[in-house]
Formats: sequence, structure tokens, C-alpha cells
Amino acid sequence: MTDTLADIAQALVATGKGILAADESTGTIKKRFDSISAESTEDSRRDYRELLFRAKGGNQYVSGVILYDETLRQNAADGTPLSKVLQDQGIIPGIKVDLGAKPLAGHPDETITEGLDGLRERLNEYAQLGAKFTKWRGVYHITDQSPSLAAIHANAHALARYAALAQEAGLVPIVEPEILMDGDHDINVCQAVSEEVLRSVFTELANQEVELEGILLKPNMVIAGQKCPDQDSVEEVADRTVATLLRCVPAAVPGIVFLSGGQTDEQSTEHLNAMNKMYSNLPWKLSFSYGRALQAAPLKAWAGKKENGSAMQSAFLKRAEDNSKASTGTY
Ligand code: 13P
Repeated sequence: MTDTLADIAQALVATGKGILAADESTGTIKKRFDSISAESTEDSRRDYRELLFRAKGGNQYVSGVILYDETLRQNAADGTPLSKVLQDQGIIPGIKVDLGAKPLAGHPDETITEGLDGLRERLNEYAQLGAKFTKWRGVYHITDQSPSLAAIHANAHALARYAALAQEAGLVPIVEPEILMDGDHDINVCQAVSEEVLRSVFTELANQEVELEGILLKPNMVIAGQKCPDQDSVEEVADRTVATLLRCVPAAVPGIVFLSGGQTDEQSTEHLNAMNKMYSNLPWKLSFSYGRALQAAPLKAWAGKKENGSAMQSAFLKRAEDNSKASTGTY
């Protein structure tokens, strides 16, 4: 029997598990590799990701991995498709399907995420390649003038159009509206903007008749901007984030998987842990879909060198285990 959208979504937020976001575009992974003075080539990107995917026991903590187009088509060094390397361990392969955030006409410093044209065909191909879920990221910048209504509505509309198409193709959409941590705004501003953005996203999802039981939400946490002099306690971030989600996210959504968004490793784990520890009766699972907060440590341990492979895998497993604990409030 084939799994329903709701089955896949629930499997992705199975107790104690979260998602590894390894869907960096070629440009972004080059920046990450530059930071460890490693060359970014098709083979080095494959070698790095193969190490992550083959880390023994990773499947206790990781339910699914978001891949980039190149990776979904790549084979491991022994010729096994990387998606099969994941599936053989019971890890669900997913795929980032947006084509990136581009300048929004008439709105300096704001973006609209592109990729709806031809998306139906791409989704059908990704389903054939073994993907079971997808991701699309809308990006919102907080400044004195933004986010504008234009950016909020355009990105919510695109997220909902994407989500409907993904479900039509039998793929679970991860709906990711990311309010960036850049700037000096305080937590109140982040909370107000997060509420406005989430309300708009769920209105558009309803308009497009997206089945909420078959999606996951991937939001930012409610947190002060990185340059704000007033940084809040772990408990305050947890309280504000949960309060905002309770106001805006319907109970039919099975899970909320946070992005790390530039938080330190420790912050991303402590905040998730606090939410799950302080609130035990939430309508949805709260877990992780971290990129940097899962990969910064292994990337550093690897440093582009083959001989560091096992140190790299240990560093990754440690971060995955810590965040798995945080997803049950036991870190
Ligand atoms: P970070 O956890 O590094 O923010 O990445 C998550 C992600 O997938 C962003 O789109």
C-alpha cells in the first residue's frame, strides 16, 4: 500500500526524529566549503554528503534528508544512488524545489521566491527519482519598511501554489516562511511579523485547498535580531515562539520543524528543548529541520580531508543526537 501524505508527514516527525537540511544550492555549499578551505566540486560535494548520509546510527535521530537537485541524481562512490543509501536505512529522501529568492519588483531589499513555472513537471520527475517530500523557502527581511504587504502576500501565495502542486504529485510539502534574524529588531517585532506572515501563509494554504494533515511547517523561531542589544533568555524565546504558533498554526498540521537560521548550535538545541520541555500538550510535534546547526560541527571536523571522515561522522551524530533529545525535551 502506498503511504498517504499524512503518513509521510507523520513519519517525518516520528518521536525523537527530525530532518537534516542538506539542500544547499551549488553557490551556498561553495561558501560553506570556502569556510574550511575545501574545494567545491561535484565529487567533493558527493563525498561530503555521502559521509553524512552513511553515518552509522544517524537513522535513530534523522527521519528525512532534504536534498538538492544535484544530490538526488548523484551516486555514492560505490555506484549506489545517494537516495537509496538513505532509503536503505529507513531515511526518507526529500528535495528542495524552489529556484531561490529573487528581488521583488518595486521593493528594494525584499524578495519573492521563484520556481512555480514548470514545477508540476519537475515534481513528477522528483517523485520518480524517489523523493517523498519537498521544500520551498520564502524569505522575509525585517527593516523599518519591510516586510511589505506586497512581499508577505506574494510569498504566501507562492508557498501555497507550491504546496498544492506538491500534494498533487503525492509529495509532502514543507512550507518554509523564513523571517531572517538579520537586523537589530527586538523579539516583539519578530513576534508581530511572524504572526502576520503565518496568518497570511495559512490563509493562502486554505485558499488553495491544501490538505493541512499532509504538510509540515518550517518556520523561524521568534527571536530578537542578531544585532539587537537585548537578547532574551532561552525560556522567553521558547514562550514567544510557542505562543505565536498556537495563535497561527491549525492543529491539523502534524508537525513544525524549525530552521536554525544562524543561531549557534547550542541556541538551536536549547530553544527546541525548552519548548518541548515547557509545553507537553501541543497540537503538533515540534522538531528540527536544521542545516547549519547540524552541519557546522561536522564540516569543521571534516575540513575537506578524507582521513577525517570518521571524526566528521562522530561530530554529525553528536549534533543529531542532541537535537533528537531536544525534540522530546530531554536534552
Ligand atoms: P538553517 O538551519 O541553516 O537555517 O537551514 C535550514 C534550511 O533549510 C534553510 O532553508
